[in-house]
Amino acid sequence: RDAEGQAYFDKVMADDSRIEPRDWMPPAYRKTLLRQISQHAHSEIIGMQPEANWISRAPSLKRKAILMAKVQDEAGHGLYLYSAAETLGQPRDQMMQDLMDGKAKYSSIFNYPARTWADMGAIGWMVDGAAIANQVPLCRASFGPYGRAMVRVCKEESFHQRQGFEILLELSHGTPEQKQMAQDAVNRWYAPALMMFGPPDDDSPNSKQSMAWNIKRFSNDELRNRFVGMMMEQVKVLELTLPDKDIRFNEDTKKWEHGPLDWDEFHEVLAGRGPCNAQRLERRREAHHNGTWVREAAAAYAEKQSRKQAE
Ligand code: 3HC
Repeated sequence: RDAEGQAYFDKVMADDSRIEPRDWMPPAYRKTLLRQISQHAHSEIIGMQPEANWISRAPSLKRKAILMAKVQDEAGHGLYLYSAAETLGQPRDQMMQDLMDGKAKYSSIFNYPARTWADMGAIGWMVDGAAIANQVPLCRASFGPYGRAMVRVCKEESFHQRQGFEILLELSHGTPEQKQMAQDAVNRWYAPALMMFGPPDDDSPNSKQSMAWNIKRFSNDELRNRFVGMMMEQVKVLELTLPDKDIRFNEDTKKWEHGPLDWDEFHEVLAGRGPCNAQRLERRREAHHNGTWVREAAAAYAEKQSRKQAE
């Protein structure tokens, strides 16, 4: 059965087509997908927190409504991704418990504080922008449920990025204090956003296998550099600057290059010692506890429905 399955799997990889949940797959393929998709789902859920803090302090009803819609979208992205991960055999409760117990990774970016309203603009433009750069290739991931989830996620992310860009544009064309607030936010979120793409290629243990299995389509550095190029064009329209004097377009390699990033900081954040790691997990545990009654009510309702159907 395994020999037949392996042959089928190898052909699917060679044809660059899709593996579906019921197909045979190498245990290591299943394991790396569970790893990546569950971490991706956790990122979406934890990612709701920095922005949720600003919903009650939004400067207008329009901004409040847009931010609420964005935060709700992130919850939905988390649910699509937990569902995709569950098709690989791990129950959602287990994934969520691992997150609350501090045993699961989520994107480093969400361990930084959102200090001002302009951070809502910088997060939308830079963090969701980086997410789009990373997630568009994932629409072609070889695992069906993951690739399909990404299509819907990417459509909603482009709204997230555009609303962030618009916040920065408005502030940048506002009073000098507002323009400075926007520039400060861009300065604070630039390096952490670049680190979202993962460690440098020569320090990325999963990349080789992930690319061989058509999960990762481009390397961490390749996407990071592409994203720098995208921001360089858009930051001119914002009349702001990126806090990196080493950014340049290399005419020989035809690639964008940027200044050094603090990978010690990155590893500190991944080790749970970032600026907001503790509070993000504390808030997650509190939200999970506060939601117990919802889960119990939904389970009781489902039980009643299935009893009715059985009658
Ligand atoms: N934050 C936390 N952990 C990270 C990380 C980051 N920014 N970048 C890398 N890591 C971890 C990896 O998970 C891996 O650890 P593990 O083996 O225990 O999982 C280790 O560092 C080495 O990194 P690799 O490059 O070898 O790992 P990958 O091949 O998995 O590449 C990745 C990392 C590019 C983040 C890849 O996992 C990926 O594309 N994930 C899906 C996209 C994603 O998770 N995006 C997060 C943001 S979600 C979001 O932004 C929401 C939006 O709405 C704002």
